[in-house]
Amino acid sequence: WFGHVEPAAKDPILGVTEAFLADPSPDKVNVGVGAYREDNGRPVVLDCVREAERRIAGSMNMEYLPMGGSMEMIEQSLKLAYGEDSDFIKDKRIAAVQALSGTGACRLFADFQKRFLPDTKIYIPTPTWANHHNIWRDARNAPDGSFFLLHACAHNPTGVDPSEEQWREISHEFKVKKHFLFFDMAYQGFASGDPERDAKAIRIFLDDGHQIGCAQSYAKNMGLYGQRAGCLSILCDNEMQAVAVKSQLQQLARPMYSNPPLHGALIVSTILSDPELKSIWLQEVKCMADRIIGIRKALKENLERLASPLSWEHITNQIGMLCYSGMTPEQVDRLANEFHIYMTCNGRISMAGVTTRNVAYLANAIHEVTKP
Ligand code: LMR
Repeated sequence: WFGHVEPAAKDPILGVTEAFLADPSPDKVNVGVGAYREDNGRPVVLDCVREAERRIAGSMNMEYLPMGGSMEMIEQSLKLAYGEDSDFIKDKRIAAVQALSGTGACRLFADFQKRFLPDTKIYIPTPTWANHHNIWRDARNAPDGSFFLLHACAHNPTGVDPSEEQWREISHEFKVKKHFLFFDMAYQGFASGDPERDAKAIRIFLDDGHQIGCAQSYAKNMGLYGQRAGCLSILCDNEMQAVAVKSQLQQLARPMYSNPPLHGALIVSTILSDPELKSIWLQEVKCMADRIIGIRKALKENLERLASPLSWEHITNQIGMLCYSGMTPEQVDRLANEFHIYMTCNGRISMAGVTTRNVAYLANAIHEVTKP
């Protein structure tokens, strides 16, 4: 039956983790996957998450969630993306379902688009997160009325976001061309340290009267990577349309995974609905974002100390968890082969994997492979 099945190509991001794990060197460094690490190099579980789990433990049962997921989690997610007092939420104009993190939200939207707007394509940034290519396979030169995906904040892989002024211009252009914008918001809070500020692009589009879609993920900003907690929302013309769209999203989800996982959703809704836990969360997001800002500075200073003739200004100019270094695939290969440092072949460094212990080693290796 399966003799014709060829091995799949390695995933450009998660394949890096596999290569890292297979390397026996004690010096090895993983700056591949965008997953936060503390300065001791270890994954972190936020205090607000631990406390939410403690509160949940006594009261939770293991029943199925509805097909569309936890209503509490969805409500809190919408407030986070669209604004605490959003009229769109009050008017019930948003069709939203809990999704399997950001990937699941994007994928569900792609399936919805394929089913109900089969003649449309979606235009994605170049470069973009590698998995966007897998989710939507696609082309160029957008005719009026096209779908676009843009990163709401902390662009992956470049760490370069449009300014507020530029978002306003983009919004204006989208109005003129009647485009639909789907926001992928995988890093809300990681760009500025403040989730509210990081939703600015979305708010600009809402103020300008666009209908939008949005994928939210709690992988990075709550550190809930393996919990697959996220939300897909689509702003509709009115409540009736939102009810119809939501029912179709649920129907798409049913044969794929039936209903989404419970535990992560409970953690999210417990944190976001409790003012005390939410304020701890906000401090912890800021703390993670600040560590990344600090370590960016340290990497740049180390490179300058080595008298690298290249400019490394972009390390500190870029924002979010990822740094688009400008290194070539050949230089990235040398880093892995000669220095046991693993990153994606586009030269993207996950700053989350850089620590005070390995920053000098990393800077030295980068200097070695980039010096003329
Ligand atoms: C990344 O870009 O490294 C993360 O979003 C993890 C992933 O799933 O690719």
